[in-house]
Amino acid sequence: MPYFFETKQLTLRTMQAEDLEDITLIWGDTQVMQYSGGPSTTEKISRSIESYQRLYEEKGYSVYTVLLKENSRIIGVCGFNPSDNENEAELIYHLHPNYWGKGYATEAASACVKDLKDRKSDIKKIKASVDPNNPSSSKVLSKIGMTAKGMKWFDDTQQEELYYELE
Ligand SMILES: CC(C)(COP(=O)(O)OP(=O)(O)OC[C@H]1O[C@@H](n2cnc3c(N)ncnc32)[C@H](O)[C@@H]1OP(=O)(O)O)[C@@H](O)C(=O)NCCC(=O)NCCS
Repeated sequence: MPYFFETKQLTLRTMQAEDLEDITLIWGDTQVMQYSGGPSTTEKISRSIESYQRLYEEKGYSVYTVLLKENSRIIGVCGFNPSDNENEAELIYHLHPNYWGKGYATEAASACVKDLKDRKSDIKKIKASVDPNNPSSSKVLSKIGMTAKGMKWFDDTQQEELYYELE
């Protein structure tokens, strides 16, 4: 039975193998992944879905599939990656371009933060980083109450990014 939680317009649930095609339209898309290390292949995305299912089983949080309640369409992904520090988690979100500019990322990210805080008292800090050329993403983080702490070097993207925290 998948774990899920809801907002006014969205359902967020643990990833399922059958989400592969829809999530490939997101993580496999050049425009969506422009600021997140580039598009991924179907094979890699399939492995990511399995690893996010394991992450939920092991740690009780994950990156979730985001669906529109009105028609059950998959519109994106949102949730948390683990951090080197067991007491910290990293917020990420990627939406299909058809659904940008409608407030969905803010609604999904805010619900993920609330769900994590409600259930996982061991996570003391939520972190996020944004490519400085991606102001929409910075707006999402500010709107959910995260604070910009300055620029920081990231090995995975090989660049300086604007780093946010929520404590
Ligand atoms: C970044 C992203 C998640 C924002 O999603 P979204 O659902 O459009 O965000 P929201 O609708 O909640 O809006 C956030 C802000 O960005 C602005 N915005 C959204 N799309 C925009 C666009 N195409 N052009 C200009 N501004 C835009 C909105 O106006 C809003 O600001 P406002 O409240 O001052 O009006 C989405 O564009 C996306 O998935 N991008 C690709 C993936 C990515 O970069 N993820 C972040 C890295 S982890």
